Amino acid sequence: MRSVPTTWPVGSRKAVTPTIFDAHDHQFDAPTVIRTKRDGGVLSDAAIDWVIDAYTNGRIADSQMSALLMAIFLRGMTGHEIARWTAAMVASGERMDFTDLRRDGKPLALVDKHSTGGVGDKITIPLVPVVMACGGAVPQAAGRGLGHTGGTLDKLEAIPGFTAEISKDQIRQQLCDMGAAIFAAGELAPADRKIYALRDVTGTTESLPLIASSVMSKKIAEGARALVLDTKVGSGAFLKTEAESRELAETMVALGTEHGLITRALLTDMNRPLGRTVGNAVEVQESLDVLAGGGPPDVVELTLALAAEMLDAAGLDGRDPAQTLRDGSAMDCFRRLVTAQGGDLSQPLPVGAHTETITAPRNGTMGDIDAMAVGLTVWRLGAGRAAPGERVQAGAGLRIHRRPGEPVAAGEVLFTLYTDTPERFTGAIAEMDGAWSVGDTAPDIGPLIIDRIAGGREEQS
Ligand code: URA
Repeated sequence: MRSVPTTWPVGSRKAVTPTIFDAHDHQFDAPTVIRTKRDGGVLSDAAIDWVIDAYTNGRIADSQMSALLMAIFLRGMTGHEIARWTAAMVASGERMDFTDLRRDGKPLALVDKHSTGGVGDKITIPLVPVVMACGGAVPQAAGRGLGHTGGTLDKLEAIPGFTAEISKDQIRQQLCDMGAAIFAAGELAPADRKIYALRDVTGTTESLPLIASSVMSKKIAEGARALVLDTKVGSGAFLKTEAESRELAETMVALGTEHGLITRALLTDMNRPLGRTVGNAVEVQESLDVLAGGGPPDVVELTLALAAEMLDAAGLDGRDPAQTLRDGSAMDCFRRLVTAQGGDLSQPLPVGAHTETITAPRNGTMGDIDAMAVGLTVWRLGAGRAAPGERVQAGAGLRIHRRPGEPVAAGEVLFTLYTDTPERFTGAIAEMDGAWSVGDTAPDIGPLIIDRIAGGREEQS
């Protein structure tokens, strides 16, 4: 079995001097832990356990945790530190167990997916009902927007009435009755909830140890038996290069495997936004298009690739995921799920009260569109947060009218921007400067699915 590498700091930009901070016999204190990491040291297991517990329970201030997160961002962590930090985050809350649940007398095929964060990444919304329709059971602890990336919960809450704050009993009931529940992590890995919110506003999101531990602590605690990770690569991903993203995927697969989960990862391209919409309600609408058998080809391709991985990892080989989009069974599952969680799909989805457009300067072919710039544009329009706990705008977003490689006529609308607060347009439109072009030839675009990484026994076969 592959284990998390221990020799070199993971995600570090500088080499680590291996001074061990291990205060077995005396009291831990936050300044010493911060200085140890700031100076390139390695935190002991006991120090990590103490920090996570003390922060979760309010004995370390946000300012101190922010400093430690920045030190981790700059110095990285060894594989052993990441494994211990993740385990401490799992132990900070409860761990759900659904192994006693049965459907038709059989144990549930408990399987989930998580993305490392992208732009226009609405895949969870069509994917969960596809897997439900194929007989899977998805306990999905979903997240909110982080940095320039959107969050599944912020998107789903754009559906009038939808709530992700559901009880454990309701999660169990939904898993048995319909095969999925999408919920806020709640008491699962509460350390992650606090650290995630702090990272979002302290410039410490783009860190391999912090992403790996954040994703895996929630996923280990949520009670799935199998997990597929969509690890993003490119400008719109937190880690830009393929080498960094591969290391992240391998680290997460190793963490999952060590905690008994069948864990796999796909490396997928995030240089340009997925689909034609980025934001909250606009992405729900596009997901409904996919569930109705249409939608952008890249969103459909990734949904089906992840569904195939999930079904295989869960040992389900009966149904063709593509058929569930064609015959409407995935749409039926989505409607049941949304209704069970209070949502009303008969109500119109919100749309930002104000719009602006960006038009083509000339005839030609749409060039590439930079995912990072689009993510920041949509964040500036109000779809994401600049302060912890801020409300996001359900109707904020951006529509891409011409995808890379499509023909363009001078003066036609290429992008529409939506917000409820029009004073945001100036900053948002400025983010789009230089993020797209119209040229004479189609851009060279690589494959959407770059590679697949499997863990444990699968790796050796
Ligand atoms: N998703 C998470 O849950 N955490 C991260 O840090 C990034 C993506």
